[in-house]
Amino acid sequence: MDYYKITGGKKLKGEVKISGAKNAALPIIVASLLADGETVLCNVPNLKDVFTMLKVIECLGAETEYDAEKNILKIKTNKIKKAEIPYELVKTMRASVYVMGPMLARLGFADVSLPGGCAIGERPIDIHLAGFESLGAEIGIERGYVIAKAKKLKGTRFIMRKVSVGATINIMMAAVMADGETILENCAMEPDVVDCANFLMKMGAKIEGAGSEKIIIQGVKKLNPIHYTIMPDRIEAGTYLLAGAITRGDVTVTNVISEHVSALCSALSEIGFQIRRGKDWIRVLPGKKLRGIYVKTLPYPGFPTDLQAPIMALMTTLPGISVVNETIFENRFTHVGELRRMGAKIEVEGNMAIVHGGTQLSAAPVMMSDLRAGASLVLAALAAKGTTEIRRIYHSDRGYEKLSEKLSSLGADIKREKGGGY
Ligand code: EPZ
Repeated sequence: MDYYKITGGKKLKGEVKISGAKNAALPIIVASLLADGETVLCNVPNLKDVFTMLKVIECLGAETEYDAEKNILKIKTNKIKKAEIPYELVKTMRASVYVMGPMLARLGFADVSLPGGCAIGERPIDIHLAGFESLGAEIGIERGYVIAKAKKLKGTRFIMRKVSVGATINIMMAAVMADGETILENCAMEPDVVDCANFLMKMGAKIEGAGSEKIIIQGVKKLNPIHYTIMPDRIEAGTYLLAGAITRGDVTVTNVISEHVSALCSALSEIGFQIRRGKDWIRVLPGKKLRGIYVKTLPYPGFPTDLQAPIMALMTTLPGISVVNETIFENRFTHVGELRRMGAKIEVEGNMAIVHGGTQLSAAPVMMSDLRAGASLVLAALAAKGTTEIRRIYHSDRGYEKLSEKLSSLGADIKREKGGGY
């Protein structure tokens, strides 16, 4: 299996263009199933998770064609059929459950494996299923699969028991062709929800309030295939800003929606870095006096849980103590053990992590446990003394397009090596 060899100590400098957002592309790819014909998506990132999602919709009869050079994806949905979405696909990528909304809306039937466990937490899909039931679907669990049936979904009022990005999007996709009006409350406000809603509205859906906690949907009879460009990835953008910060360099991320990265920018300014921003670019520069901070992860627009592991790597290099309070997932500190191997001093108490800063990280063989924990180790290696080998980098291939090329273009000493075992 491939691994990264990173020699730390280089100050990253320069500009990096941000790719399309993974967490918007995945539901939008699935939402194309709601219409007959050819959908064309631009700015689709070349990621493992995108290819897994293409396999998922191909199970249902969709035909796909992806141009990796131009990041353009064409999806033909004229021959959609009832089919099972197998466990091996869903366990590879939990976002496969996004097919349930469109399958129920279009076919009145869904047969999808329950996702099972995940490295960062139990991550059930009970809210998704409760939303479908509220729309009139009958839900059964057989041999680890969800079998959902509905002659015709009917508009409803559904209050989510917890803010959930996936449930908000999945239930919204089911409701766009239901009979009558659907009111969803306690919705997630993430930009991914808005991008998916914009895609659906361009297809002809009637949706109000996406991006707020209340979404109102008037069901329509038919949706049409369209051309659409995926928004930029705010988590990728934040990761590269943190790469600039941890190496005390001067990095500008371009092709971003600056306001989507506000929580991270506030945290970096609070630490003492200089942040300069335009509408579609953000620059991080060294600061005079740095200090540790307290970060609490929250639903958007709060600090994103997906940047918790990456910012923790930065925290180990700051003077003083920093504290992380992870409120979204119950097991999202899998990167701590590996950071400790590189010399970090971190105590974990439940969902709180206390980071003793002022550490000169040093190279050590480490391995990724999930996508964002992997990003944290890459950032740590960029600042560590010596050459770090990072294994199981297939995790970062899921969500960071051309990671080593982009980091090399900023001056990092990173090589992707073949082989390397475990
Ligand atoms: C999305 O996951 C993202 N994934 C995650 O990014 C992200 O961390 C997460 O939102 C939070 O922002 C995609 O968009 C593909 P949730 P999702 O439903 O939708 C609980 C990455 O690194 N919950 O908002 O699965 C859940 O367990 C990934 O790109 C239920 O209890 O997250 C969690 O504690 C990792 N029942 C909380 O809600 C449900 O039915 C928020 O999860 C659904 C969720």
